[in-house]
Amino acid sequence: MAEDTSRSIGPIVLLGPPGAGKGTQAKRIAERYAVPQISTGDLLREHVRNATGLGVLVKDIMARGELVPDDLLYDIVADRLREPDCKRGFILDGFPRTAPQAGWLDAFLENEFFDNSEPGKCGPIVIRLDVDYNELLLRLTGRRTCSLCGHIYNVHLQPPRVDELCDVDGSKLIIRDDDREEVIRERLFAYERQTQPVAKYYEGSARLVTVDGTLPLEGVSEQIFREIEAHSTGC
Ligand code: AP5
Repeated sequence: MAEDTSRSIGPIVLLGPPGAGKGTQAKRIAERYAVPQISTGDLLREHVRNATGLGVLVKDIMARGELVPDDLLYDIVADRLREPDCKRGFILDGFPRTAPQAGWLDAFLENEFFDNSEPGKCGPIVIRLDVDYNELLLRLTGRRTCSLCGHIYNVHLQPPRVDELCDVDGSKLIIRDDDREEVIRERLFAYERQTQPVAKYYEGSARLVTVDGTLPLEGVSEQIFREIEAHSTGC
């Protein structure tokens, strides 16, 4: 995939249900435009692994497949977005996922993002990945992730060359704790109830675009790159 660092792509939000391919596509966008992927799920899992104060608070909530309360997210997202590598743009994977989080993000970007921006100029491009329920179940129950580099596989759809080992670095592949069927159902329910309103929040502004997430990886990426290049703000 050719890298394109000639443009500032601004903020990108990937929206979609668990298993839609947000993480997979975020990595491909990050590679193409050399901007960071910011996954709130990954940030929270790191806190859980390190048993920080936040990690202890959210561990059981995440294990049940419920959303973490909004106000526990704002500091970690703000701290990450203030890092210098976000200046040319960034990809938010898994944030915002409630309407209040979307409002918080708009206010944050308007107040703090890109020093010379005009108000409203640098609103995110919101890319929603559309995938049906049965395909989501297949993707989540088959997902494996490299324990070292985070590369994502699927035993049904994108298996590694050698069973349970990463193609990139040979490390062991792991199954995420919340990819058990009963937890998956709760996560999909939380998406319907709490994250669908985020699409409503962005609907009506030219910022929300929907792409067909059921295509093969490259086909999904092509649609996303086209949208990014059509909507990039030049911020
Ligand atoms: P998070 O880590 O964000 O998980 P999620 O939203 O449930 O999304 P996933 O990571 O499961 O799926 P994905 O869309 O990234 O799919 P992937 O690319 O891996 O959140 C986890 C938890 O953290 C939440 O439940 C909540 O508790 C908490 N949390 C996080 N953010 C929060 C927030 N903002 N507010 C409150 N709580 C928050 O792909 C899935 C599988 O499909 C893979 O196996 C992949 O290989 C395969 N695949 C992908 N694309 C394709 C394709 N085109 N064709 C075939 N297979 C494909």
